Amino acid sequence: SNLDMQIGELDKNGFEHFMLKEIFEQPQTIEDTFKGRLKPEYSDIVLGGLHHVFPRIAKAGRIVIIGCGTSWHAALIAEYLLEDFAQIPVEVEYASEFRYRKPLLNKNDVVILISQSGETADTLAALRLAREKGALVLGICNVVGSTLSRETEAGVYTHAGVEIGVASTKAFTAQVTVLTLFTLKLAKTRGTISDEEYSLLVKELAEIPKKGRAILENNEKIRQVAEKYKDAVNALYLGRGTLFPVAMEGALKLKEISYIHAEGYAAGEMKHGPIALVDDNLPVVVVAPQDAWYEKIISNIQEVKARKGNVIAIVTEGDTGLKELTDDVIEIPRSHPALAPLLAVIPLQLLAYHIAVLRGCNVDQPRNLAKSVTVE
Ligand code: G6P
Repeated sequence: SNLDMQIGELDKNGFEHFMLKEIFEQPQTIEDTFKGRLKPEYSDIVLGGLHHVFPRIAKAGRIVIIGCGTSWHAALIAEYLLEDFAQIPVEVEYASEFRYRKPLLNKNDVVILISQSGETADTLAALRLAREKGALVLGICNVVGSTLSRETEAGVYTHAGVEIGVASTKAFTAQVTVLTLFTLKLAKTRGTISDEEYSLLVKELAEIPKKGRAILENNEKIRQVAEKYKDAVNALYLGRGTLFPVAMEGALKLKEISYIHAEGYAAGEMKHGPIALVDDNLPVVVVAPQDAWYEKIISNIQEVKARKGNVIAIVTEGDTGLKELTDDVIEIPRSHPALAPLLAVIPLQLLAYHIAVLRGCNVDQPRNLAKSVTVE
């Protein structure tokens, strides 16, 4: 009815799709996720849900992080952050694999389950197995009162709000925000981060919402890039370090909603296979901000260009060098490299969104996919 239509439009807050609305909400949902947890003077991070178990976490021998889909990508980013700043061994695994292994876990291990819905069947099975083995079992979840939040010993909620688009966007950046807070708090407790670096990171985290808004202002530019590549059959996404999981997440967004086959790869692995696919029909999205891997990633771009591939680069604002070398650039503001995933993923979400819309796909409810997979 007309009334239903009006309500539908209201829910989307003027956006054409829930996915676009949710992409645009990210500066706010990231802020909602860290606000109240960062003390105003930045001297401490408060994760109330973990308070009673934090001493045990700080003494853990190992952290195992488990999830599915986009939540698994957030886990992979945390692996880099935790090893780098908290100097603790980390393993990341798909819930569907973990649950059928005979994992060697003990009471000194911490297992973190990540799930937007808190109802994914494989993730819940992994949770129960880890608990049986005596590990300390924690959750990072977006849905208050979900099965995951009830069955874990402790946890942290993401404050992304209700996510309706099947392809996860704001829940992902909220997960990465929680994992960043968790890493910083753990690093501080374990004494593995200097006071200077800690303060710098916390200050920079508070700047992320503003920088996210600046990226969203490029929406029309990104739509124009999408026009050029909407008829692609395959796409390759490359990144290094924490931006390798971001490349995988960008590829996942594209395949989920546009049905273009896409793969995310660690840029250094390109020479071991994907380079065979490069020709003048292959768009290659390269996440290439000016960080420690910048020179390496430039060589990867040159390798693609030498084989006539089309390079779309996500670059640091003002990087004119890469503009020369590539077909299209999308700028993101400069940030601390540890926080770059929160920014770099936004243009990839928008690129996938616009390509899917231009192809006439149902972006909010892609075929064959479910928002929450509650059966095996
Ligand atoms: C489904 C959804 C994905 C999501 C995954 C894990 O496949 O379509 O968007 O990333 O499940 O869901 P969870 O709720 O456990 O994060």
